[in-house]
Amino acid sequence: MPQQPVIVALDFADPRDARALVERLAPGDCRLKVGKELFVRGGPELVEGFTRAGWEVFLDLKFHDIPNTVAAACRAAADLGVWMVNVHALGGPAMLAAAREAVAGLARPPLLTAVTVLTSHDDATLRQIGVAGSTAEAVARLADLAHAAGLDGVVCSAREAGLLKEHYGDAFRRVTPGIRPAGSARDDQQRVLTPRAALAAGASDLVIGRPVTRAVDPVAALAAVNSEIQVTGDGAIDQ
Ligand code: C5P
Repeated sequence: MPQQPVIVALDFADPRDARALVERLAPGDCRLKVGKELFVRGGPELVEGFTRAGWEVFLDLKFHDIPNTVAAACRAAADLGVWMVNVHALGGPAMLAAAREAVAGLARPPLLTAVTVLTSHDDATLRQIGVAGSTAEAVARLADLAHAAGLDGVVCSAREAGLLKEHYGDAFRRVTPGIRPAGSARDDQQRVLTPRAALAAGASDLVIGRPVTRAVDPVAALAAVNSEIQVTGDGAIDQ
């Protein structure tokens, strides 16, 4: 079975709730995302528990610091056996290169992706922090830095995914949140796409949180998403 493109965002305050959900899921059906809240509460043991149990884990800690510190943090993430770790492209070329360098020689290097511009920003708030140009221009510039530094992709909105795919090719991943299966609540996401529409728009990996984690039946909710996007036997995505 090819790996499904869904990454379930484990946004739980209590690690026990995260573990209880994960026990009901199967590694072939999705990957897992551990973000700041769960990591701060559950610690590296939680992440290692998942990786040892065969899960591919995206450690979403968005490292942004001096190059030496980010390099060390990426190596520490790799030691946990994670599948993907991310940094902030705003850290700049030297930081991105140090992160790449830090994991490049490892036996099982994690994929390294970069956040470009957080979706909580708009053109006005970017100006406030001194970032020039529009959000779209900043995303393009930062994605370019990530690509030039040899990273494996970016976290981006589905709106940007198509252009990035065209520009850098399919191997440069577009990890995309803001996904809502038809009929599910938007929660606080402003612009949402269905899983199928996000893949058609150029996303390579779909981050889905509450529509699965807060569903009455999370297993059925994930199964419904996977059947909607129907990954075919040769790994090609049937859109
Ligand atoms: O519950 P929901 O599907 O909205 O969860 C989306 C996940 O993706 C959350 O973990 C959220 O922090 C993350 N995320 C996002 N928008 C971004 C970057 C990350 O929603 N721009």
